[in-house]
Amino acid sequence: MADQIRVLIVDDIPETRDHLTKLLGFESDIEVVGAASSGQQALQLASELMPEVVLMDINMPDMDGIQATERLSAEVPDAAVVMMSVQGEADYLRRSMLAGAREFLVKPFSSDELTASIRQVYAREQEKASRRTVAPVMAPAGGGAVPIATGGGDHDGTVVAVFSPKGGVGRTTIAVNMAIAAATELGKSVTLMDGSFQFGDVGVLLNLNPKNKSIADLVPELEAGEVESLDTFVINHSAGIRVLLAPPTPEMAELITPTAVKRVIEALRLQNDLVIVDCTSSFNETTLAILDAADTVLTILSLEITSIKNMRLFLEVADQLGYEHGKVKLVLNRADSSLGIRVTDVENSIGRKVDHTIVSDGRSVVYALNRGVPFFLSNREAEVSQDVLRLAETVAGERVAAGSASDDAKKATQKKSLFSFR
Ligand SMILES: Nc1ncnc2c1ncn2[C@@H]1O[C@H](COP(=O)(O)OP(=O)(O)OP(=O)(O)O)[C@@H](O)[C@H]1O
Ligand SMILES: [Mg+2]
Repeated sequence: MADQIRVLIVDDIPETRDHLTKLLGFESDIEVVGAASSGQQALQLASELMPEVVLMDINMPDMDGIQATERLSAEVPDAAVVMMSVQGEADYLRRSMLAGAREFLVKPFSSDELTASIRQVYAREQEKASRRTVAPVMAPAGGGAVPIATGGGDHDGTVVAVFSPKGGVGRTTIAVNMAIAAATELGKSVTLMDGSFQFGDVGVLLNLNPKNKSIADLVPELEAGEVESLDTFVINHSAGIRVLLAPPTPEMAELITPTAVKRVIEALRLQNDLVIVDCTSSFNETTLAILDAADTVLTILSLEITSIKNMRLFLEVADQLGYEHGKVKLVLNRADSSLGIRVTDVENSIGRKVDHTIVSDGRSVVYALNRGVPFFLSNREAEVSQDVLRLAETVAGERVAAGSASDDAKKATQKKSLFSFR
């Protein structure tokens, strides 16, 4: 059958290989084309059999699953890897994804989970391939999902994902302040979406009540097809931006599927000049959906060895994902807080230039944080604010003429005085 998904199984334990082969044998749309007992054999079989999906065990004696995945990504790039790991190895997730794996299954998994992962990965790869060959320069099509009613949105806004493969490097700080800079200084209509669905803290930085509506309220209604407008779910913040919060509790993050995220982003795009998404550092399917949907991915790094190493790996992943050149921009945060590493060292290590730098200014940043007032408002003249404004200009384009500045932004400029503090 031409449309069967060709799967290669890689596991050093014969019983596991047999078990998986039998399980998948029940699925009419999946064909197991081979089984390898080692990473080495996997590479050989993959190049002969050209599977579309490779089920890869992470723990194998000669070459582990991560190494094998790294080599597969380079040698047989069309084979998408689903990594299998036992519980307690969750920290392998990110390494696997960075090695090029598309999914991560924790053993023991049910046959439903297994087949759903295979189908999902396959579908994603197909979609990516068609986007690459058919319309490489067009805006993302939104995965064929039916767009939700947007209350007459007629924008074709720019979507910017603020991402980093390492936590704590300043993503939220930059996302929040850049959003405000674009609204108040450039006159753009801006929505900031907290894409850190489990532990989002955009609301904290903006001093918002956690009882406000969030994306967790939006998604079920969206799925039921009942959403007329996003306005009920998006908060108008006095700083001149709109905010779509993360769910109030980590468990609720599970509601937010990659498909739902894409639809939300496309709907926001229609209503704004600029949509900024503060992403989490875990490299999961939802984060990938955001990165895919974005026009620009600002990847934030700091002058730390681990941040630099993860960045190098991420750039390789971005390449494999087929992101066009220029989509991923490097932003070095706290660029002057030299810890023995210089910017040129970073550039040499990752093999490309840093696109933007933002100075370290603990005083302004922490002062603002403790008061729930973004530093762009409380200390507009500070160098760190100027750096953020320059970044906003690069991603959001030129200043809107004074007469046409959005109402929100105008109001915000007037309301700045509300934020004055002792
Ligand atoms: N340019 C800067 N100068 C000084 N301090 C900064 C700067 N940028 C960020 N910080 C500080 O670094 C810390 C981490 O920032 P932030 O929470 O924005 O990072 P993050 O990448 O969003 O982290 P998380 O992984 O928790 O989401 C915060 O205490 C913040 O105040
Ligand atoms: Mg954050």
